[in-house]
Amino acid sequence: MSTTPQPFGRTLNPEPVSVSRRAEILADPGFGLYFTDHMVTIRWTADGGWQEPGVVPYGPLSLDPATMVLHYGQEIFEGLKVYRQPDGSVASFRPDRNAARFRGSAARLAMAELPDELFLASLRELVSVDHEWVPPAGGEESLYLRPFMLATEVGLGVRPSAEYLYALIASPVGPYFSGGIKPVDVWLSTEYTRAAAGGTGTAKCGGNYAASLLPQAQGAAHGCAQVAYLDAEERTWVDEMGSNNLFFVFGSGSQTEVVTPELTGSILAGVTRDALLVLAKELGCQVTERRISGSEWLEGAAEGRITEVFGSGTAAVVSPIGRVKHAGGEVVMGDGQPGPVTRQLRGLLTDIQRGLRPDTHHWMYPLA
Ligand SMILES: Cc1ncc(COP(=O)(O)O)c(C=O)c1O
Repeated sequence: MSTTPQPFGRTLNPEPVSVSRRAEILADPGFGLYFTDHMVTIRWTADGGWQEPGVVPYGPLSLDPATMVLHYGQEIFEGLKVYRQPDGSVASFRPDRNAARFRGSAARLAMAELPDELFLASLRELVSVDHEWVPPAGGEESLYLRPFMLATEVGLGVRPSAEYLYALIASPVGPYFSGGIKPVDVWLSTEYTRAAAGGTGTAKCGGNYAASLLPQAQGAAHGCAQVAYLDAEERTWVDEMGSNNLFFVFGSGSQTEVVTPELTGSILAGVTRDALLVLAKELGCQVTERRISGSEWLEGAAEGRITEVFGSGTAAVVSPIGRVKHAGGEVVMGDGQPGPVTRQLRGLLTDIQRGLRPDTHHWMYPLA
């Protein structure tokens, strides 16, 4: 099995998107609708290890109908953003964390573990070819990177695949909140859970998101943009949302405490969550990772002890929650508007990501 890293091959797209069309796309990219001219692929086989790393033209994958991923769902992914810096260079936010989480997800799904150096090299290779797709500095636009891996062995036996395909694609994305940061309503599900301890909640595998679509539709039917889940065993403790970790702000001023559910075996360890814990401490807040029950959330907000609640994740960075709805009613968070801690944390983190504030924690990773 090869252990020395091989150089990336590069096959340029003979028909890249025209400069004028790319400018049109970058002017209004939406989310996940358009893709850059290239992608990275790396194959793995049990006999040969990681092989043939390369940048190739973006295009369809061809899969035999009996490819294992199509039947047993051995698939994992990551999501991270690349930001244009004021000096024109481009950088991403803590991609080493995504590399490590990707390896952790692979381990849980009994898949081959991509070495972190290869994960990071794949980001550098794609962004150096497609750097013109990174939106300009000064706004909230970015280039979203989607690394993923699937089981490609052909066969219907239920066992770990002996072959995998790692791929990396990139999509320019617009501001999450156009026209200013807006609070969202959240559905607290008491019917469905996201993950159980011992299950796949700490992994970023496609199956977790497939299972979230029905509760997500239920939430949408109640006018909610996101679903918050309770733990699977006791249906008591708040885990997280479908694609965000959760933060609760207690009190205000010098008495502010920021609480987030501790990482049990069913919560995804968000990269944004980790950074916000550091920044909240620097803001002078008391920061606590502990269990918080659904009733503490509802009663605390109704009685004014909980003053702000927000979600954290790569897509929205910090997403204020205006109202939580549940089978028994609804409660407004604070005055329903994004509170001061929510705003300050969002401002601090987005400024660091956009190179507008010194990166004292060395979180930014230059890519091109
Ligand atoms: C289930 C879940 N929780 C939390 C997060 C936030 O993680 P991060 O901050 O790394 O984007 C995500 C998004 O990746 C997610 O899908």
